[in-house]
Amino acid sequence: MPDTLSGKVALVTGAGGGIGRETVRVLLENGARVAVADISEDAGRETIEYVGAGDDAFFHKTDVTDLASFEGLVAKTVETYGRLDVAHNNAGIEFSGLDLADVPVEEFQKLIAVNYTGVFISMKAEIPQMLKQGEGSIINTASALGIVALPGQSAYVSSKHAVIGLTKAAAMEYSGRGIRVNTILPGVIRTPMIEALDVQHPGFSDMLLKEHPIGRLGLPRDIGNAVVWLGSELSSFVTGTSLLVDGGYSTH
Ligand SMILES: NC(=O)c1ccc[n+]([C@@H]2O[C@H](COP(=O)([O-])OP(=O)(O)OC[C@H]3O[C@@H](n4cnc5c(N)ncnc54)[C@H](O)[C@@H]3O)[C@@H](O)[C@H]2O)c1
Repeated sequence: MPDTLSGKVALVTGAGGGIGRETVRVLLENGARVAVADISEDAGRETIEYVGAGDDAFFHKTDVTDLASFEGLVAKTVETYGRLDVAHNNAGIEFSGLDLADVPVEEFQKLIAVNYTGVFISMKAEIPQMLKQGEGSIINTASALGIVALPGQSAYVSSKHAVIGLTKAAAMEYSGRGIRVNTILPGVIRTPMIEALDVQHPGFSDMLLKEHPIGRLGLPRDIGNAVVWLGSELSSFVTGTSLLVDGGYSTH
């Protein structure tokens, strides 16, 4: 489907990370031009090098917890490519693995600020441009941990449950005005985030492999493919949905 997103303009947050970087590549392969957004300048620039897309992608340093920063990203995207059709709100941070009563309040608040409030801020900045156009597709990244829990992950689990609720609320408000809003719920995807958790908790991903009936962990491209589908006309009757891309993780 090389032309699925031909002429479309996308942005990806957390695009310096494992899922975001590959999603940028898959969006480009499908004909979109892409704004690459990340709080890390080094990681964002590495993504630009990795995709090698010339004028079809640019990096803009963006903090999803800061509305002015995000509005700057939307403005730069419109200035560069003229519009914003597909927004993949994907930035997120992992959690230390402590049981709830041991979690420092500051750590809980920081995670909520990025994983949950960050999605609110992202949509708040994107929606006005999409309303001007009368169309757009927003795709938030939650997690399979948005519908089930895991010990030691209270902040992460609750932030991802909240993203699903926020997605449904936004879909209800804006779907009649041309903006579809959906969320993707990845299972465990092999990325630097999982590698970091593996360092903190040796054997973490091997343990989780057993929880994926399909017999493998996910690849970043599995999520990129879902973003292309949700971002394109192929999914034109889909809004407010929580799309599990989890190899069956949440079936038990
Ligand atoms: N990897 C998995 O198995 C998995 C599973 C389910 C859900 N997810 C979710 O997918 C998303 C991407 O995960 P990943 O595995 O690619 O993680 P990652 O750590 O590889 O990448 C996350 C990126 O987000 C960026 N970021 C962090 N804070 C930011 C901020 N305030 N503003 C802008 N960018 C910021 C980081 O710099 C990093 O480049 C996250 O929302 C994560 O919760 C991941």
